[in-house]
Amino acid sequence: MFFSYATLSLVGIVLLFAISTAAHMQMSDPAPLNSSFNSHSVEPKDYSMSSPLVNNSPDGPVPGGYPCKGYLSLLGTPEGAPTAVWEAGSNQKFTLAGTAIHSGGSCQASISEDKGATFKVVKSYIGKCPVEGGGSLDFNVPKETKSGEMIFAWTWFNRVGNREMYMNCAVVTITNGGSGLHNYPDIFVANLDASCGTDEGFDVYFPKPGTPDRVVNLSTSIHPPHGACAPPKQETVAYSPPETTATTTTTYTLTKSSFTTTTSGPTNPQPSCECRCVEPGLKSGYVVNISPFTN
Ligand SMILES: *[C@@H]1O[C@H](CO)[C@@H](O)[C@H](O)[C@H]1NC(C)=O
Ligand SMILES: *[C@@H]1O[C@H](CO)[C@@H](O)[C@H](O)[C@H]1NC(C)=O
Repeated sequence: MFFSYATLSLVGIVLLFAISTAAHMQMSDPAPLNSSFNSHSVEPKDYSMSSPLVNNSPDGPVPGGYPCKGYLSLLGTPEGAPTAVWEAGSNQKFTLAGTAIHSGGSCQASISEDKGATFKVVKSYIGKCPVEGGGSLDFNVPKETKSGEMIFAWTWFNRVGNREMYMNCAVVTITNGGSGLHNYPDIFVANLDASCGTDEGFDVYFPKPGTPDRVVNLSTSIHPPHGACAPPKQETVAYSPPETTATTTTTYTLTKSSFTTTTSGPTNPQPSCECRCVEPGLKSGYVVNISPFTN
């Protein structure tokens, strides 16, 4: 067999390309929003789905940031069409591609039933995630998951290297679903600003990983995160409707819709906000005004 010089150069170029795109890890199945793995994606696609989330801004979401690298704008468009159909209660898997695993770390599989406002954890993988060469990780789609188009997210905190958070999101259709993932923990979010971080050299221990049947712990060296770790820009309150005959409790999401700081008063500055309770994906109402103290 003989190769011409031109053929050898071409091989070299192809190899270089393969190396540069193998940096870090990305989800290939289910195919994420704006990913080149997604047959619904159109140019310009994101050919570096394996790059970490861009840090938060105090002013709110930023392109490339949390959640989903900013690609939830594709929901409801042809590019946001579902890439998998999962029956609630079934066992499924997601596949990671790439080679740069940064000594693994900890991952979560989460589902959003409210178009990305909240993500509920359905499995936590503490340590050795991802494994060398990528591969598939299995989890159970809770039978409580609501039917319809939901967002599946894979998130990853690498053990070694820069302190980063990785997140790829895919639209999936849930069939034969239930009443919702209200009782599942919120997704763990860290390393996007100074408020919450993970320590290098350890697999992060998720403060709320889920029930034991939804946690796999392969870590040999585990560390909790440091700082005030909470889901960003979102507070959840349990709200009981003022009905005398009611026996049910509904969980509403309290969303901050405006935020101002007053410059007068006894202790300055004082925050005040108008907050709005929204039943995830459904009704809106119950505006709460939180005003500064005046003596
Ligand atoms: C998809 O990714 C590309 C490359 O980063 C970007 O230019 C494009 O705006 C993204 N699409 C959407 C809808 O955000
Ligand atoms: C996970 O495994 C590590 C190492 O064996 C252990 O120290 C840690 O307590 C375990 N955590 C949980 C939640 O099981």
